[in-house]
Amino acid sequence: MSSADVTLSPVRNEPSMMPLVHANSFRAKPVEKNFELSIVAPPRVDDVKRVIEADDGIVQPRKQLLNDFSLEPVIVNPKAELPEVVKDMVSSASDGLRSGNPPVRSREGTGGAYFMQGSSGNKYVGVFKPLDEEPTAENNPHGLPLSPNGEGLKKGTKVGEGALREVAAYILDHPKSGRRYMCGEEMGFAGVPPTTMIECLHPGFNHPNGIKTKIGSLQMFTENDGSCEDMGPASFPVEEVHKISVLDIRLANADRHGGNILMRKDENGKIVLIPIDHGYSLPESFEDCTFEWLYWSQARKPYSSETLDYIRSLDAEEDISLLKFHGWKMPLETARTLRISTMLLKKGAERGLTAFEIGNMMCRETLTKKSLVEEMVEEAEEAVLPETSEATFMEALSDVMDYHLDELISMREREDMNVWVVRKMEKKSKEKGEAEKTRQEEEEEEEERKKNKEKKDGGESNSEGSSTRASASARQRFLQRSSRESPKSQVK
Ligand SMILES: Nc1ncnc2c1ncn2[C@@H]1O[C@H](COP(=O)(O)OP(=O)(O)OP(=O)(O)O)[C@@H](O)[C@H]1O
Ligand SMILES: [Mg+2]
Repeated sequence: MSSADVTLSPVRNEPSMMPLVHANSFRAKPVEKNFELSIVAPPRVDDVKRVIEADDGIVQPRKQLLNDFSLEPVIVNPKAELPEVVKDMVSSASDGLRSGNPPVRSREGTGGAYFMQGSSGNKYVGVFKPLDEEPTAENNPHGLPLSPNGEGLKKGTKVGEGALREVAAYILDHPKSGRRYMCGEEMGFAGVPPTTMIECLHPGFNHPNGIKTKIGSLQMFTENDGSCEDMGPASFPVEEVHKISVLDIRLANADRHGGNILMRKDENGKIVLIPIDHGYSLPESFEDCTFEWLYWSQARKPYSSETLDYIRSLDAEEDISLLKFHGWKMPLETARTLRISTMLLKKGAERGLTAFEIGNMMCRETLTKKSLVEEMVEEAEEAVLPETSEATFMEALSDVMDYHLDELISMREREDMNVWVVRKMEKKSKEKGEAEKTRQEEEEEEEERKKNKEKKDGGESNSEGSSTRASASARQRFLQRSSRESPKSQVK
């Protein structure tokens, strides 16, 4: 289906995808009364308190009963059916509001992020991030200054488009077995929690200028034992780090710090990493790409054959069509980012490069020094005419990329050779040292033996003495020769 089939209508903040057809309605039934609330935002479910300020200032847990709230999925293209997991999440969050369980604002993060509760009130079911509460958006609850030019906190993003990017990351996180639209229920390769766009009306959000319906992303809440900021990376399984690296490279993620990877121990005690917060993925430029995992040793291990198969199956053109099908009229620059990062990932992986080597090419070493991918893009741009087609530009970039990657490989081989030579020399000098030591010891022993013999023989038998000296120097020559032996015979 083409994007022409998608009906669009303008909405506040005008992000490039917006609602329009509510194919599945989850509108919650109104419930009686309306109480004034003050909401605390504790980090864990156990601590959740729904509270109202009583006259005496004592905070008492209390349910909030409202008659004016709603929560509905935003469906741009009715043909793009919501997966069951997403429908369940939306209904649970809606039931939670209906049961009087208000959204609980997270203390963490720079934007407004709200834990949505289920009907029982002892479980979070989703995390809602309204567009107008993003960092530097007008209703940001942390009081961050407004963006002067509409640009988001990271280069190449716009304020009010974070939710689109959150949803895009889920849609593009294809399961190992196939593309997301073919098997919507399955967990994706990187495990981005199910995410969808919703509109929600509730007084518990930040409404400095009157209560209005908010649009934003709703992501399934994932039970966790903290984030990667809470623990050293040594115990993270290699495959877990690799799956995050594949996602981040594809999406050119500009916000992959440790706090945006949750961590959970599964029933066997194995650590599972859960990527969250993709509001700054697919930027229009590579300037702000940041990958925390670059500094983790797992990123320097080669990709497994399973991961390589997954990378081989990726197709940027299909991904772009898929996002359009779901209603994101993405600008050319965003589509280009996805094309370039997918190309780099595929070409790099095909050549046996590690996540570190590929990711490193996408990140700036310093604020002002362009990354290799930025340089490659510039080179390709210079090589084609300004009005050239996207396909021609990508062909030029493909050539430039091949050249740089091949150069990197040969450099790596040369470096490997250098490292090999250095190691060999170190080994040789160590052996020489040992040989030297042995020789000295043997000479001392020899000397000792000679003295004893001279004592015993009363100074007789000069010929025997010289033969002993001769054999000692022969041994010495042998030892010296062996320490000078050809490198091949010394390196095992
Ligand atoms: N799917 C999820 N499951 C469980 N907890 C979550 C989930 N998504 C977010 N959180 C929690 O909410 C916090 C804020 O969410 P998030 O990181 O998405 O917000 P943010 O404001 O965009 O953050 P940042 O400052 O990193 O840009 C997270 O640090 C995490 O503790
Ligand atoms: Mg975050």
